Amino acid sequence: MNVLITGGAGYIGSVTAELLVKSNHNVIVIDNLSEGHKNAVPKQCDLIIADAADGKKLDSVFAAGRINAVMHFAANCYVGESVKDPAKYYKNNVICGLTLLNKCVQHKVGTFIFSSSCATYGVPGKIPITEDEKQLPVNPYGETKLAFEKALVWYANAYGIRYSILRYFNAAGATENLGEDHRPETHLIPLVLECAAGKRETLEIFGADYDTPDGTCIRDYIHVSDIARAHILAMESGLSDCYNLGNGSGYSVMEVIKAAEKITGKKIKTVETGRREGDPPALVGSSKKISEKLGWKPEFASIEKIISSAWNWHKKNPEGYK
Ligand SMILES: NC(=O)c1ccc[n+]([C@@H]2O[C@H](COP(=O)([O-])OP(=O)(O)OC[C@H]3O[C@@H](n4cnc5c(N)ncnc54)[C@H](O)[C@@H]3O)[C@@H](O)[C@H]2O)c1
Repeated sequence: MNVLITGGAGYIGSVTAELLVKSNHNVIVIDNLSEGHKNAVPKQCDLIIADAADGKKLDSVFAAGRINAVMHFAANCYVGESVKDPAKYYKNNVICGLTLLNKCVQHKVGTFIFSSSCATYGVPGKIPITEDEKQLPVNPYGETKLAFEKALVWYANAYGIRYSILRYFNAAGATENLGEDHRPETHLIPLVLECAAGKRETLEIFGADYDTPDGTCIRDYIHVSDIARAHILAMESGLSDCYNLGNGSGYSVMEVIKAAEKITGKKIKTVETGRREGDPPALVGSSKKISEKLGWKPEFASIEKIISSAWNWHKKNPEGYK
C-alpha cells in the first residue's frame, strides 16, 4: 500500500514508518520538524518537510500517486502546555487535522488512522478502561483529541472514508534504531533513564499519597513497536472502529523506578513533589477489543522488556538524535 504518515519524524510515527517499510509498504512522511528529527525518518521513506495542513503540498502528494491510507500522528502532545496555551492545541490538533482530513476526502483516500489518547477519558470511572467508558477530558490536549475523533466519525459517516481511532496509553521503549527523544522530555521512562545515565540529578515523583498500593500513580505502558503493529493491523482490517491500545496491566511510578534500577544497575535519586492537577491515580486500558477484532497482542508485555529496549537505545544514542 501507499501510506502517508504525518508526524513521521516523531517518536511513534518514525517507528511505524520503519515497520511499514519492513512490511513492504511505500511510505511518504510529512513533518514540519517542529518536534521531530529528520534522521529518525527511515531512509526508504520520502520525507516532505512541510506542515500537515499545507494544502498545496498535500494536493501534490495526492496527485503524484494513489495514497491508500493516511496515518495521522502529527500533533502537539504536552498536557501542561495545552493548559497554558490551548489556542496552539486547537490550531494544530483540530484545525490542522481537519484541513488534512478535508484533503483526504477530496482525494478519495480510503483509510484514515488517527493517533488518539487515553487523555480523552479524563478521570475514568472504572479500571481497566474499556472503549465504552465516558470520554470526559480534563485538559485541552485531551479535548482536542476528542474533538478530532468526533469529526472523523461524522466524516466517515457522510463521506465514506474508513477510519481507525487508536487511543494509546503511555508509549515507551525503542527499536534497534529508533527511540524516544522529546525536548523537553516529560515521559517517565526516558526521564528515569536520563537519571540512570547521569544526565539528570533527580527524578520528581508527582505525589506519593495516592490510593494505590505504594502511593504513586499507576499507568499502562505500551511498547512503541506494539503500537506500530496495531496501525498496520488497523489499516489492513478494512473496518471503521476505535480501539484502546495499552498493555492491560499497570505499573506504579515506584515499580518503574525499581525495574529501571535493576536493568541499569544504577540507583535513581528521587524527590517527592506535590500531586499534579488532573492526574488520576490509575490509568490502565483494556485491550480486549483490539485483541478480539484485530488479533493484536502486545509482544512487549512486561515493563522489564520495555525499559530494556529503551535503555539499549539510550546507551547507543546518549545525545538522542542530535
Ligand atoms: N507518546 C505517547 O505516549 C502518546 C500517547 C497517546 C497519544 N499519543 C499521540 O501519538 C502521536 C505521536 O506522538 P509522539 O510521542 O510520537 O509525538 P512526537 O512529538 O514525537 O511526534 C509528533 C511529530 O509531529 C510533527 N508535527 C507536529 N505538528 C505538525 C504539523 N502541523 N505538521 C507536520 N508535522 C507536525 C512533529 O514535528 C513531530 O515529528 C501524537 O498525535 C500524540 O498525541 C502519544
